[in-house]
Formats: sequence, C-alpha cells, structure tokens
Amino acid sequence: MSSSRTVLIAAIALLVGFVAGMFSSGLDSSPPSKESARFHELQDAYQDKNTQFFKLARERDNLIGQVRVLEQMVDTLNAEIDEINAVAATAEEYREHFRLANITADLSDTRDRYPLYDIAVVRLNESGERELVPMQWGLLPSWWKPSKKTKSRKSFQRMTYNARSETIDTKPSYRHAFKRNRVLIPATQFYEHGFYFRLARSPLFAIAGLAEHWSDGTETVDSCTMVTTEANEMVGKVHPRKRMPVILDSEAACARWLNPELTQRGSLDELFVPYDDGLMDQIAEDAG
Ligand SMILES: *[C@@H]1O[C@H](CO)[C@@H](O)[C@H](O)[C@H]1NC(C)=O
Ligand SMILES: *[C@@H]1O[C@H](CO)[C@@H](O)[C@H](O)[C@H]1NC(C)=O
Repeated sequence: MSSSRTVLIAAIALLVGFVAGMFSSGLDSSPPSKESARFHELQDAYQDKNTQFFKLARERDNLIGQVRVLEQMVDTLNAEIDEINAVAATAEEYREHFRLANITADLSDTRDRYPLYDIAVVRLNESGERELVPMQWGLLPSWWKPSKKTKSRKSFQRMTYNARSETIDTKPSYRHAFKRNRVLIPATQFYEHGFYFRLARSPLFAIAGLAEHWSDGTETVDSCTMVTTEANEMVGKVHPRKRMPVILDSEAACARWLNPELTQRGSLDELFVPYDDGLMDQIAEDAG
C-alpha cells in the first residue's frame, strides 16, 4: 500500500514538473534577460537607420535629378563661347594695343581660359583711364543673393558667362551692366569644337564684355561676361548653335563700346554684327 502511494506521489510530482516546464519554456512568463532587451533596442535602432537610409537615398536621387536639369539648362542656354586664349601677348603688347594706363591683372598664364576662371579685362577707371584688371568669367550682378534656383554664386555664374546681344538691354542680369559697365575682353583666339579662330590682321583683339561688382560685406567679386551674336559662315559651320563672340577689332570700335555716354542700344547696335569671314583664320586644334 505504502509503495503504491509513493509511486502515485512520484507520478504527481513528475506531472507537476512537466507542466511547470511547459509553462516556463513555451509561454515564457519570466522577465526578459539583459541580452534580449539589448537585442530589441538594436533591432529598433536598425529599423530607424534603415528608414533614414531610404529617405536620404530618395533625397539624393532627387538632388541628382535637379542637378542634371540645371546642367542641361546651362548647356542649352549658355554654351555659345566658352573658351578663349590670349597666347603670346606680352604686357607691352596689351598696353600698346588697348592704350592702358595701368595693369593689375596677372598675365603669366592667359592660355585656355574657361568660365569661372579669372581673366584679364579692360575697364575705364573713375577718371576715364583704361586699366587691365582681373575678373571672374561669369557675371554676378550686385543684387545677386542665394535662392532656391541658384544656391551658390558659381551656379549663377555658370548661367551668365555669355550675354546674347539680342536681349542684352532687357535681361535683368545684363541690362544694368550694359548701360553702365561695358568692358573689353582681350583675346588672341577663341576655340570652338576642334578649331581656333584668329583675326587675320591683328593678333590681339577685344571681345565685347560687361562687368559687375558684387559684395556681401565680407567678400567682393568682380565678374564679367562675353557678348555673343550670330555666327558668320566660317564659325557657323562648326558651332552647333551658330553663335560667335562680338569682336571689336579697331580702336574706334573699342572706344565706342567703352564710351560711358552711350547708354542706348541703338547707338551700339552696329557693333553686334558677325565678324567678316574674310578677315578670319580657322586653325584645326591638331595643327596648333
Ligand atoms: C595701378 O592700380 C593699382 C590698383 O588700383 C594702384 O595701386 C597703382 O598705384 C596703379 N598704378 C599706376 C601706375 O597708376
Ligand atoms: C585712373 O588710373 C590712372 C592710371 O593708373 C591713375 O593715375 C588715376 O589716379 C586713376 N583714377 C582713379 C580715380 O582711380
């Protein structure tokens, strides 16, 4: 009798143990261990980062798209003339040709000048004397401020390195400079799609330009743009948009362009003609 009771008690104990074991392993009512709390924390952090990552990736793709659109705008709006050279011209030649009273521009490297580079520009100082000074190529008007469309100075200047003569007196970026700040941009040649173009009768010539002075109180930028017109036949054959710079090849034309008393388009229109093909040389890039 006592032995059967012992067996029964043992059986009950076993059963209780089994059920208790089932509860503890299957339903897990015990408090979470430190490790599992840390695991959940990390899992949440991972999910947050993952969400952030995809959000940033979307933003990045948006920005890349916007930059592409801007670059295309720049290309279609502006690629009229984007390389000039002033090779083999000495300071003395500049001084003589442009009747300069002073030179502060650095003439040690005047080859291969592109937009946003510093280039040497002839302007009148306050007493009407001509000086050769450095300016950034890409016009930055005095009113420029960062905006949604152009967040940096350079992004603006990439859109203003050529001024079409046809709209120079009406476009907000150019009309002030057209009336008040016309300048000469010396060159010995300009480059288009595999060819250099030079003048037959003078190694140095001027491209009509406009200048602006910009300052935000701490920084100042003196900048300029080159005026363009329809291409002549020679340049039109290689230029996809059939444009060329406005070339001033005589002292009379230079003096007229710089004359501060002329502020109306009508008195300057005659300078905006395509340069005579017969007075130009075209040299393939490979031929130097
Ligand atoms: C040339 O211009 C610079 C800067 O304006 C001035 O400091 C310098 O005195 C000028 N030189 C001459 C010869 O006028
Ligand atoms: C204009 O330039 C000339 C030559 O550098 C200089 O003598 C003259 O003082 C300058 N005028 C002004 C107003 O800076």
